[in-house]
Amino acid sequence: MASSSPHRRRLLLPLLIAVAAAALWGATLAGASAVTCKAWLVQSIPTDMPHLRRVPGVLSTGDVLQWLSGNATRSLDILAQYWQLLAQPNNPKSGDYGFSDSDMKRFGADEGRRVYKALENAADRKIKIRQGLDLAAGRPNVQNVTLLFDDWWGSGVVHAKVWISDKKDVYIGSANNDWKSLTQVKELGIYFSDCPQIAKTVEVYFQNLWTLSTLNSTTYTKEAWDKQWQVSRKVPCWSHFLQPKDRCRSPIPPSVDIPYIDGYPALADPEMIDVSFETPGYKKSTQEHHLSYLSFSPPEMTFGKFQADEQGWVDTIKSVKSGGVVRMNTMDWLGQSEFPTQTVYWSSLSSAISEVVFSKNATVRLLVAYWTHFIPNTDKYLKSLLYSNTLCASSSYNHCGGKVEIKYYMVPGYNETGPALSQPGAAAATGNRYPGFTRVNHGKYAVSDARANIGTSNLIWDYFYTTAGVSFGTYSPAIVAQLQDVFDADWHSPYTVPVQPLEASA
Ligand SMILES: *[C@@H]1O[C@H](CO)[C@@H](O)[C@H](O)[C@H]1NC(C)=O
Ligand SMILES: *[C@@H]1O[C@H](CO)[C@@H](O)[C@H](O)[C@H]1NC(C)=O
Ligand SMILES: *[C@@H]1O[C@H](CO)[C@@H](O)[C@H](O)[C@H]1NC(C)=O
Ligand SMILES: *[C@@H]1O[C@H](CO)[C@@H](O)[C@H](O)[C@H]1NC(C)=O
Ligand SMILES: *[C@@H]1O[C@H](CO)[C@@H](O)[C@H](O)[C@H]1NC(C)=O
Repeated sequence: MASSSPHRRRLLLPLLIAVAAAALWGATLAGASAVTCKAWLVQSIPTDMPHLRRVPGVLSTGDVLQWLSGNATRSLDILAQYWQLLAQPNNPKSGDYGFSDSDMKRFGADEGRRVYKALENAADRKIKIRQGLDLAAGRPNVQNVTLLFDDWWGSGVVHAKVWISDKKDVYIGSANNDWKSLTQVKELGIYFSDCPQIAKTVEVYFQNLWTLSTLNSTTYTKEAWDKQWQVSRKVPCWSHFLQPKDRCRSPIPPSVDIPYIDGYPALADPEMIDVSFETPGYKKSTQEHHLSYLSFSPPEMTFGKFQADEQGWVDTIKSVKSGGVVRMNTMDWLGQSEFPTQTVYWSSLSSAISEVVFSKNATVRLLVAYWTHFIPNTDKYLKSLLYSNTLCASSSYNHCGGKVEIKYYMVPGYNETGPALSQPGAAAATGNRYPGFTRVNHGKYAVSDARANIGTSNLIWDYFYTTAGVSFGTYSPAIVAQLQDVFDADWHSPYTVPVQPLEASA
């Protein structure tokens, strides 16, 4: 279980966040104004997908993670759910177990080793690294901390995948710090180079998670009757899911005063980041000036006027123009919660989708992963969403010309994953062709005709209310157009299968 990439969290895993020594904390970027912020989309494409059209100008995750380490001269801060950059074919508990060296080479495991080495080299250069677990352990310049979301929100993990190098270069996306995320899992993210403005904001979130790990959760949590979701659940004592009289002062700065008592409302005017960046990976590189944003979860971890992550997604769906197209890609999709004791019904995203289908004649295309660890009731929720098409056409008085289209994404080999050998000693071959927790489309993003949202969260209630997650979003036409192209390459590939609607009743 320790080795699973795109995790099924049957066990509550300790969450790792990286932490660094404060010595160089204040290092500033003199002359940063002279450099230009650049942004590239980043993908991992699993091996053995010859029929997937490659979108030019998109970087590879393995390269970007090596560059973030390689370019670091002062600090490297990494948010990780777990570490598995080195394959473990000899570990009977690993999904890699029993594969040969030549199998591992074919799977691309060397790329994970290269990222690991780049991190070790950074540690050798005495860069302050704040990260999780045993990587480059025992060095004074490498610090780690584990944050247990379970103690704070009753369930959940640090699911955000973020690298920040020298407080100016950043990766945000779906890729875990796992060799499989580089060559066996399909991932999508964004890489910023020379962007202190973006890095600064993400760093506040990083620092706040770190602060949380130093606090006693027993003292700082309460049981709330959550009016928004109609459940009783554990939350940090500064949560707006508590009545004002029951709240404590937030120990994590800086928080905004929200004049609302039963939850976290969507901000009418969330903070936008006015940073112009070049997009060298997309056609001619022009410096663009368009608004961007960052959004964070859980809501108790938002700060300033940055919006909660759910709002980043909902507003992206609603940004579609009349007659336009929204493209959405996720590993998991559920219209409910997955892990809390009391099950939450969650229609935030499906409602937003139905709303634009009805009122704006929008076409919404949704790609959901189908793989070994597929959540069985997903199909019911997808059929429920497809039923919007029936409702749209249900009356001759409706002026509804939109539609929902949903496909499953099946990376070839998705149903032949797991260890190659069943038992140490007995060594029975399992017939599996790929390691465990591979061959899955793991990216999480939405893109309308106006705006793109690149996130780290699966589309399930838990990820927005009890799990650490980050999205970067932007109105940059270059990022929007290139992300649409990435989606279309997948959507029109032979690796997708339409989800069938409910049978119409007689
Ligand atoms: C630094 O990053 C750039 C891209 O932003 C990359 O081309 C270069 O190879 C990186 N340098 C190192 C030493 O990794
Ligand atoms: C940090 O890493 C070391 C191993 O290098 C481990 O012993 C320790 O438990 C980790 N600390 C936390 C808080 O996770
Ligand atoms: C946390 O606080 C509780 C009650 O306030 C106390 O009993 C417990 O010992 C504290 N735990 C730590 C690790 O300080
Ligand atoms: C949506 O499509 C319907 C039917 O085709 C049409 O009557 C309606 O005017 C369209 N609405 C918008 C906002 O384009
Ligand atoms: C895996 O699925 C493919 C089709 O999606 C099928 O042809 C193949 O037989 C399946 N393999 C196993 C081991 O079930």
